Amino acid sequence: MQTTGVKHRVATPDCLPRAALPHHRVRCDPSTGVLTPGGGRINLRRQKASAIPSPTMTFRTEIDHVAARVNERLATLLDQEIGQSPTSGEVIAPLSEAMRYAALGGGKRLRPFLLIQAASLFGAPEDSALDAACALECIHCYSLVHDDLPAMDDDALRRGRPTVHIAFDEATAILAGDSLQTIAFETVSAPSCHDDPAIRAELTYLLAKASGWQGMALGQALDLAAEQRPFTPEETTAMQMLKTGALFRFACEAGAVLGRASAKDREALIRYASAFGQAFQLADDLLDAEGDAAAMGKAASKDAERGKATLVGLLGVDGAKAHLAGLVADAEGALAPFGGDAAMLIDAARFVAERRS
Ligand code: IPE
Ligand code: IPE
Ligand code: MG
Ligand code: MG
Ligand code: MG
Repeated sequence: MQTTGVKHRVATPDCLPRAALPHHRVRCDPSTGVLTPGGGRINLRRQKASAIPSPTMTFRTEIDHVAARVNERLATLLDQEIGQSPTSGEVIAPLSEAMRYAALGGGKRLRPFLLIQAASLFGAPEDSALDAACALECIHCYSLVHDDLPAMDDDALRRGRPTVHIAFDEATAILAGDSLQTIAFETVSAPSCHDDPAIRAELTYLLAKASGWQGMALGQALDLAAEQRPFTPEETTAMQMLKTGALFRFACEAGAVLGRASAKDREALIRYASAFGQAFQLADDLLDAEGDAAAMGKAASKDAERGKATLVGLLGVDGAKAHLAGLVADAEGALAPFGGDAAMLIDAARFVAERRS
């Protein structure tokens, strides 16, 4: 079968640090594809996943608090949007309901949490961080709606409920995703997001790069291409840093932009986001392999069935867990310059590794 337009090797995305790729941790024999730990400049740390400390109760309280604020603000933003519709009644009803269903139906709100925590490191205005966080969550929710479509992962369950194309129909799901995407850009570029137009412009630019063909959308294309031919660990990591990592990077970078952080602090947050994004997708892939569909609210054991490229498939469960522990340590290490102020972001990385949903 043809692998349309993606036969080339996955390049390291410009926006991502090369050192983040796992070829420093795992050696892959180019002729046989056999993987061995170590062999690179940094050895794969054989840490047990249980060596990762648990997040604190304060973190759990704080993420619940952020989720409640995001849910409230997102509902208001959607009500405003839907209220401004140039038409009404039957035609917009399924589309507007599908947008609400996709955006307000649960979700951990982890990307907003990271953005708000990163912004708070620099004392950025809270309302601005909340709007940027809601914009990011709209992109994330849209990506999930499209990810679940029959043409992509073909999933029927999301956040414990039927996916949008099952609850409505495919055309409505596609349009709801499109609409959430544009609402994200309206939100982040609106004067109500931030007084300074330069900050709004930078956020809009970064969000576009993170969401589109240099970010999440390209990563999704590569994820689908990997169903057609084997990916190396390097290609798999580069793909995951796009499909999942790019939005986490935006979360952290947006916090730095909103807080007018120094270039050094911004770089530290980008390093954290890089490790965090890889850890997040690795944990997602471990949950797919080992997790419980009821707890996750989405299907399990789909990745192997569909031939997805995952590090769990390439390294095995134990190897993946060891790599995950190393990534959590990397995420924590990147935050060293912030000392105790970054405790919530450190807890977020620990949470990602031990989450069950
Ligand atoms: C799921 O993301 C999609 C991936 C990138 C793996 P989340 O696990 O953050 O999904 P919600 O928002 O909590 O449902
Ligand atoms: C989804 O990754 C990534 C995006 C939506 C961009 P997955 O396909 O692994 O996510 P789940 O497992 O369906 O949540
Ligand atoms: Mg997918
Ligand atoms: Mg999926
Ligand atoms: Mg998954």
